Amino acid sequence: MNAVIRAVTRSSILNGIRVMGVRRGYNGLISGDIFEMNLRTVSDIIHRGGTILYTARSPEFKTSDGISRAVEVCNDIGIDCVIAIGGDGSFRGARALSEAGIACMCIPGTIDNDIACSDYTVGFDTAINTAMEMIDKVRDTAQSHDRCSVVEVMGRRCGDIALHTGIAVGATAILVPEVKYDLERDVIERIKFTQRIGKKHFIIIVSEGLKNIAKISEGIQKIMGIESRTTILGHVQRGGSPTVRDRVIASEMGCYAVELLLKGIENRVIVVKKSEIVDIDINEALDMKKKFNRELYERALKISI
Ligand code: F6P
Repeated sequence: MNAVIRAVTRSSILNGIRVMGVRRGYNGLISGDIFEMNLRTVSDIIHRGGTILYTARSPEFKTSDGISRAVEVCNDIGIDCVIAIGGDGSFRGARALSEAGIACMCIPGTIDNDIACSDYTVGFDTAINTAMEMIDKVRDTAQSHDRCSVVEVMGRRCGDIALHTGIAVGATAILVPEVKYDLERDVIERIKFTQRIGKKHFIIIVSEGLKNIAKISEGIQKIMGIESRTTILGHVQRGGSPTVRDRVIASEMGCYAVELLLKGIENRVIVVKKSEIVDIDINEALDMKKKFNRELYERALKISI
């Protein structure tokens, strides 16, 4: 997120546009927690996790009063356009603002990679690299003790973190919200098969959306007699210094948003499609449904043995 803020701020100011930082998302837009940014406000932030502007969920912004108040604040300060970084909720807020007369640009920023209109969301690469490093460490103990480790990764309703991390750590089973699973068929049978070909320790990756790692772990221990342990990675996945991929895509998206504004184009979502940065209409973006990469999932299961 900081890399987006930096790119937007610098490319705007260098083109004669003033930039205001809004603290804590739409809450700050309603309360007027806003300050002017300059080229140096965004120094030394590209390597930092989190966001220098802070963030918050804003139930008030879902009400018409909240939106009217935000529009008043924008008009008082002279804000013509809001650049929102976030997920679907942030985009819906941006669309409401644009319908109320304040132009918007949206940039997909969430570790979940769950935004249908974009192949990539800023934060995903950092999150999966963190998850991979953590699970590599968990594996050391699973390997030394001939155990099974059942690890929960984030990704509310989207299995992309589980799928990509699962491939990277060679998980014996990967359970995601998009694919209905059966403990016997999708976990136990896979463990038995890999055991027959010499495997002695197992990593099972579970998306947090399934909310049941304890049961899965108990099931494995009971049926297979293999000592099994659970680990919930949790918010470590949402922090830390961003990867190169995240810094580069975030920088590109931030610059691209400002380039569109300079051409008089507004109310777009900046997305990655087939490795290119392009833009689509907000309404079209919000109507799209995220498709799970079933092909990659099948391939992952084939080789994770
Ligand atoms: O949407 C990003 C995400 O990290 C999800 O993966 C997770 O379910 C959620 O946020 C956690 O939200 P909170 O920090 O508010 O509990």
